[in-house]
Amino acid sequence: MSGPNTNYDPVEVTPLRADEVAAMRDQAIAAIGAAADLDALKAVRLAHSGDRSPLSLANREIGALPPQARKEAGQRIGQARGAVNEALKRRTTELEAEQEERMLLEETVDVTLPYDRDPQGARHPLTTLQERIGDVFVAMGWEVADGPEVEAEWLNFDALNIGPDHPARTMQDTMFLEPLDAGVVLRTHTSPVQARTMLSRTPPIYVICPGRTYRTDELDATHTPVFHQVEGLAIDRGLSMAHLKGTLDHFAAAMFGEGISTRFRPSYFPFTEPSAEVDLVCFVCRGVEPDVQECRTCRGEGWIEWGGCGVVNPRVLRACGVDSHTYSGFAFGMGVERTLMFRHGVEDMRDMVEGDVRFTLPFGVEL
Ligand code: DAH
Repeated sequence: MSGPNTNYDPVEVTPLRADEVAAMRDQAIAAIGAAADLDALKAVRLAHSGDRSPLSLANREIGALPPQARKEAGQRIGQARGAVNEALKRRTTELEAEQEERMLLEETVDVTLPYDRDPQGARHPLTTLQERIGDVFVAMGWEVADGPEVEAEWLNFDALNIGPDHPARTMQDTMFLEPLDAGVVLRTHTSPVQARTMLSRTPPIYVICPGRTYRTDELDATHTPVFHQVEGLAIDRGLSMAHLKGTLDHFAAAMFGEGISTRFRPSYFPFTEPSAEVDLVCFVCRGVEPDVQECRTCRGEGWIEWGGCGVVNPRVLRACGVDSHTYSGFAFGMGVERTLMFRHGVEDMRDMVEGDVRFTLPFGVEL
């Protein structure tokens, strides 16, 4: 005959005994109390309430008990875990408060301490580069010229053979000063200095003119509404495109190193005839196979666009009072920002205008 065994003596499952569970709970609570900071508490939490903690492992043994004994053992474990979780919560709150207090203390800045650094202002790399460019030409006997940034529309455009209908004159590029019929603009290029120089002196003329220029561009990685150009103008007897090429090759080598020469691509500017775009030998791959194929700087071209140039248009000579039968000349214009980007690997024009010393410091503190 079979029936319920009323005399059944439950198997003792050691980890579930009341004294064992109490010991696990007490150990956990002691460890929690001893955790000195939040990192230590994290380790304690894992050890005493994680999946492999003694209480969790004991909980798994409940199934090994006879059904009558399971409820009581479950309650015992549940209460112990509840007590451990409660202790964890309390200690976390305590330690967080302690940590915050410590941070407040440690991060206090004593503004009355004596100041031990004396940072000096430095000139902007665009300024020093413009001076360096000036030096290259002064060494060849040229002079540095300048002109105003607020310029007569006539000098910025008409004198340079840019007629009233030329697209460069529209409101899109040019900042006009009010009243609009006064014919005053913020110069859109440094070329009006060519006209000013020819009007105010007699040839031979050899001038270089770095300066600030303005256009209605949005500021982004490759544009800025306020930028810089460097203009060159030479007027003399018998000057030709060959002199221009030699001058620009020297300029390129002085800026980017020996071996960096230029090439001309036919182009159009109203103030020069013939006109050309000036490209530089790519200063990264130097146009040498097989590197040029992979070069990201020139995109496999071997050349990089630098500026514009040409033989001064006789119409410009005449408008500026120079005898176009006796004299001829050449002119060129380059972006100074572009030149700085090439020379120093600057990738974003915004870095040049934001005034952050972390950008300017690596150029050195030139006063
Ligand atoms: N002024 C031109 C520009 O802003 C650049 C330029 C091109 C200047 C050719 C020159 C020149 O003197 O000959 O785009």
